[in-house]
Amino acid sequence: MSSQPARSSNASRYLFLFLLGLVLGIIGVVMALRAIEGRKTWEDHFPDAVMHVMQAHASQLGAAAKENRCAATDVLPHLQTLRYMANDLEPALPGLSDDPRFVEHASHYRATLDSALATPPLNCAGVEAAIKQVNDGCKACHQDFRG
Ligand code: HEC
Repeated sequence: MSSQPARSSNASRYLFLFLLGLVLGIIGVVMALRAIEGRKTWEDHFPDAVMHVMQAHASQLGAAAKENRCAATDVLPHLQTLRYMANDLEPALPGLSDDPRFVEHASHYRATLDSALATPPLNCAGVEAAIKQVNDGCKACHQDFRG
């Protein structure tokens, strides 16, 4: 008769210990992951940082065209930043910068932006065309090199 309450209090003790272990385990994993993240250098972040800034400007360019804001002042700053960021493709990915196909993709992408800047789009149709060329440049390289 008296063994019934004892068994249930054992069960809840195990459950408590199990949950305590689980929580401590999760805290340990989070701390380890944060320590690994904290040790990363700028070189580790460089590739993704370059790509995300390029993505930010390509997206803002697309949004401007959708909102019918296609004046030079809306468009040129994004194209210029995309062009400057394109100089960082090889430095950001030193492992790939020896690969002639990577350099070719990067050069072709820079040339696309150079010609867009040399004859800036004058209306939204022109901006859409420039965006398509830029996105084709992103895609061409990603197809070959984004693992
Ligand atoms: C010359 C090659 C090349 C060009 C051009 C290029 N990319 Fe990338 N991109 C890469 C490579 C290589 C990776 C994988 C990098 C890595 O994770 O180490 C990548 C990864 C990315 C990522 C994922 C980053 C992450 O957090 O994992 C985004 C987003 C991205 N590119 C956006 C763009 C956009 C937008 C453009 C064009 C405006 C572009 N890329 C043009 C080579 C290129």
